[in-house]
Amino acid sequence: MLNIVVCVSGGGTNLQAIIDGVKSGTIRNTKIAGVISNNAGAFALKRAENNGIPAFCISPKSFQSRAEFNDAFLEKLNELNPDLIVLAGFLVILPEKMIENYRDKIINIHPSLIPSFCGTGFYGLKVHEEALKRGVKVTGATVHYVDEGTDTGRIIKQRAVEVQQGDTPEILQKRVMEQAEWVILPQAIDEIAAGHQ
Ligand code: GRF
Repeated sequence: MLNIVVCVSGGGTNLQAIIDGVKSGTIRNTKIAGVISNNAGAFALKRAENNGIPAFCISPKSFQSRAEFNDAFLEKLNELNPDLIVLAGFLVILPEKMIENYRDKIINIHPSLIPSFCGTGFYGLKVHEEALKRGVKVTGATVHYVDEGTDTGRIIKQRAVEVQQGDTPEILQKRVMEQAEWVILPQAIDEIAAGHQ
């Protein structure tokens, strides 16, 4: 059984796709041990609670220093004993110790076809704004392992999505979520649980 912890900061639609996948059996041999957010207002925490999944908020605002936040975050993570950590819209710089302790056990979903539109500053709507500004005809999403860089780890899965006439960043973001993110993130977890990634 693959024990996963999902780290979130926002609406949690990718977390919901994982919850639904585990429930429906499309994600096999996997248990969501807990959800951790840096943001007390994240609706993702409600999604976890609504599904009986332990949910924790560990906010940098509650600590005197970044180091104390990092220690508290790592302590909670270790307590949940994850085999895999899934970053699903987690807008926090990861402590170096976390990447060392969980090397090749952290994955992230990014809303573009890496290496396009990624790296520092490319998150959320900004990614889609830049894709539209560049005039690409195809964009998509990427699941990758996390290393010390930003969006630089080994690519696990990608799925392309067509950019359509008249797309706004919001419309494009929704299509990329529906047609790519919510498909390849559950698939990646299922494949890792089966030892195929
Ligand atoms: C998604 O677009 C994901 O690609 C990006 O952050 C967003 C999170 O959305 N990393 P949600 O919280 O899963 O709805």
